[in-house]
Order: sequence, then C-alpha cells, then structure tokens
Amino acid sequence: MKTSTAGLFLPALIGRASAAEPGAALPIPDVMDLRGGSLEALDAITGKTGILQGFETPTIGYSQSYLGPVIRANRGETARLTLGNRLDENISVHWHGLHIEGAQDGGPHSMVAPDDTMDAILDIDQPEATLWYHSHIHMRTAPHVWYGLAGMMIIDDPDASDNGLPDSYGIDDIPLVVQDRNFERNGNMPYAPRGPNLMMGYRGNEILVNGAIRPEASVPAGLVRFRILNGSNARIYHFRFDDGRNFQQIASDGGLLQAPVTMNKLTLAPAERVEIVVDFSDGKAAQLLSLQDENLEMAMMARMIPAPTAITDAGEFEVMRFSVDMAKPAIVTPLPAIFAGAPNPDFGEPVRRRVFSLDMMASGGGGGMMGGGGMMSGGGHATAINGVSMDMAVINEEIKLGDTEIWEIQAAGMAHPFHVHGTSFKVLTNNGQPVDYATTGMKDVALVNGITELLVRFDRTADADIPYMYHCHILEHEDLGMMGQFTVT
Ligand code: C2O
Ligand code: CU
Ligand code: CU
Repeated sequence: MKTSTAGLFLPALIGRASAAEPGAALPIPDVMDLRGGSLEALDAITGKTGILQGFETPTIGYSQSYLGPVIRANRGETARLTLGNRLDENISVHWHGLHIEGAQDGGPHSMVAPDDTMDAILDIDQPEATLWYHSHIHMRTAPHVWYGLAGMMIIDDPDASDNGLPDSYGIDDIPLVVQDRNFERNGNMPYAPRGPNLMMGYRGNEILVNGAIRPEASVPAGLVRFRILNGSNARIYHFRFDDGRNFQQIASDGGLLQAPVTMNKLTLAPAERVEIVVDFSDGKAAQLLSLQDENLEMAMMARMIPAPTAITDAGEFEVMRFSVDMAKPAIVTPLPAIFAGAPNPDFGEPVRRRVFSLDMMASGGGGGMMGGGGMMSGGGHATAINGVSMDMAVINEEIKLGDTEIWEIQAAGMAHPFHVHGTSFKVLTNNGQPVDYATTGMKDVALVNGITELLVRFDRTADADIPYMYHCHILEHEDLGMMGQFTVT
C-alpha cells in the first residue's frame, strides 16, 4: 500500500460515474444457515458487481461477488465452515462480536493463504445478536473490507423467547449493511486514500446499502425490524427519517436492550450494529437520512474529502428509502414493555484499570516519533496506542481469565470507534458522565471522543500464538497501527 506525499491534492476519484441512480430494489443477502450443524464453504472470490447503471465494478466477496451471505448460527451449537481463498493474497474471516477463543476468532494470525482452505469451528454461546464478519489481515483490512470482504452474522437462540419481534427474514426482519464508496468514471471503486483521506479515514461520496446505491425497500404496513451494520471504513452516521418519525431501538452490538427505547435519531460508528423497529402501519413512504460525520467538521481539510450530495439545508444526505406494500403480511401488535432474556451480566468488581490512549502521528517528515516498531514505510503517517504501533510479534497486554477490568480509552482531537475482540463490555462513563446501560446495552465497539470507561470481563482464552486484538475500527487507523494484541490465560 502506497501513501502519497502529495496528500493535500484532491484525489482523482471525485469525478463520479454518470449514472449513480438511486432507487434500485434493496438487495436481500442470501442466508448461509449453519443452524442444526450443516457444514458450509465460505470462499473469498473476485467478481464483478453491477452497482452503477451501465458498469460492472470489480469487487471481491465471500462466496458472492460483493460482500457475503448473512450467516445464521444457533446458540448452544458448534457452527462449522470451510474457509477458502481464491484471491492472490492472504485473507481471514474474523467473527466480530462473537465470544469465542482466540484460536477461533479469525484475526490477523489466522490467515488463509491463496488457494488454501481452513476449518472454522465456532462454539456459539452467547445471547442472540446481530454480529458481522470481515477479513482482518494486518495492514490490509481496510482495502479488503472496502472491496467487499464483509458480511452480517445473526446469532439465534432457540431456547429464548422471540418477544413477539418481527422475524420474517427479508420481509419484516431486514439486514442493512451501510457503506460509503467512491467510484471512478469507468465504474471502478479503487481503494485509494491519500493525505487527509488516510488520517481522517477513507470516506466515499456514494452510500450503498447491501451493495446497492441508495436503494428502496418495499416493506409491510406494520412493524419492521432493521438490523443495521455500519460496514463503512470510517464514516459515522447520524440517522433519522425525513419525516422525523419515532422508532424504537431494540438491540445494540451484543443483543437485546432491556426494553425498547424510543428515539428519532441514532448515531452509528464504524462496526457498530443496532436493531430498530419502525412502524409503517400508516402506509407512508419514508427516506432514511444521515448527517455528515463530526470527524470531518473539525478538520480544516474537510472540504478536500468528497461528501455525499446534501439534500437538506442541514447537510443531510439520503441513505435509502422505504415504500409500503399494503399486500404484504404485517405485524401490528405493539412491542413488549420489557424484553425477556436481554443480556445484563453481572461482571463483579473490576480488579484493574488499564489506560489506552489512541494516538495520531501525522509526521510530515516520517519517523522519529515512534517508540515501538511497526510503523508503515513511505508517507510518514502512523497511528498507535499508548505510543506503540501494532506489531504482530508483540503482545501488548496480558489478562487473567475470568477477570473484570476497567478499560479507560482516551482519544483527543477526533472520535474513534474502539473495539475489543472476544468479549462484550458495558460502557460506564463518557467524558465523566455515567452512561445508562438500559439505553446502550452490551457493546463491542464504543465511539470515544475524549475519555470513555468500559467495564470488560474476559472469559474466553487466547494465547500468544493467536492473541486477541483491540483497535480503532476506522480501518485506515487500524491498518496504520492503532491496534494492539492481548492474551487471556
Ligand atoms: Cu471488526 Cu478486529 O474487528
Ligand atoms: Cu472484532
Ligand atoms: Cu481511529
């Protein structure tokens, strides 16, 4: 990967291909069903995807041309997959949000080489939740995800109450993988961040949902559940509907909230998931909008980064739209006041505090500021945690199995989505203010802008050969070194 020293020039990508027409039908991803013990093959392949009208865009995906199927697995079962790689570089499949041993976690040490295969054996034991999976090769995660190596994963619990929630897949239970991408005039979407696009994270000026530009979903005239994944490299969304309607958040990263929370706007940082229920029983169409990303507002160079076309005076842009089909079967019974089986584990008393400072090191001159190894060559951009860039050979933290700890995450200057592998956590405070668990639930990504305290319990093991990762989920920051490794033994 090359970084340009002429970083302050406009990237050549801004010229949009002509026909970025919104309004195609929302693609509903195929389901790869691992429930009941079926063994499936998941292969990284190259493909061509019709995203812009009149163009076939070169992309990659897991067993499909762009992105991967929605993988469903049951709590209490061992899910099995054969991972294959038909690309010409190493890939991996990291199970983001899954509570599994380091050896099963699919991180940067679990590479699948070209033309090779690897067995994934996943012991599923956690509450039902919307998770995801993506390639996680050190210094290559951002381009891999950009070109399509990502998909949603749904954990089901056959023994849990369905709480009366909409659950007809693709009809009133709809996955939405939201991403932003840039296209060249020839329809290609090269991964080519430069200068501010690298340090601020790479954003695109077209919004894709399940691989289609600003699509339209046809929904029943009732309650519709959306499982939303921010699968973007760097963009933070501030969603709301064009008519300002209320909706109910029912779940976050790690599963159900204690009770539905009514709101009319919602922030989703990279790698975060949320489940919401929207009431379409009035039959009215709606548009899902988002505000621009606060990480751009504070940067002088913001105007050098292409932005989606604003459609309101407030700078909002369209994500997708919904039309109501009165003929579809609809659920109209209200949600329960309290959800049965929502996770709220007692982590006990923390035994230790660790501090993680997320560091940006934009040194024009290149080098000199780094304490540890692992700085990327060429370009003089690096990121780090506690002054040390990610090094595959260094274990940064060692944790005792069964311990509960407070992790204090510090981020100055911009907002960073901080992620921990192999567990979920509770957010305790944000810039000194207590955070209400009832409104946030179990998380594995927390957007940090200032100081955020997390309460984390470690009850799966990872050894030094295949350790867990903690990192910023702005993928450009991760690839530049804002990542560390930890063992749990
Ligand atoms: Cu989405 Cu290290 O993970
Ligand atoms: Cu992860
Ligand atoms: Cu970051």
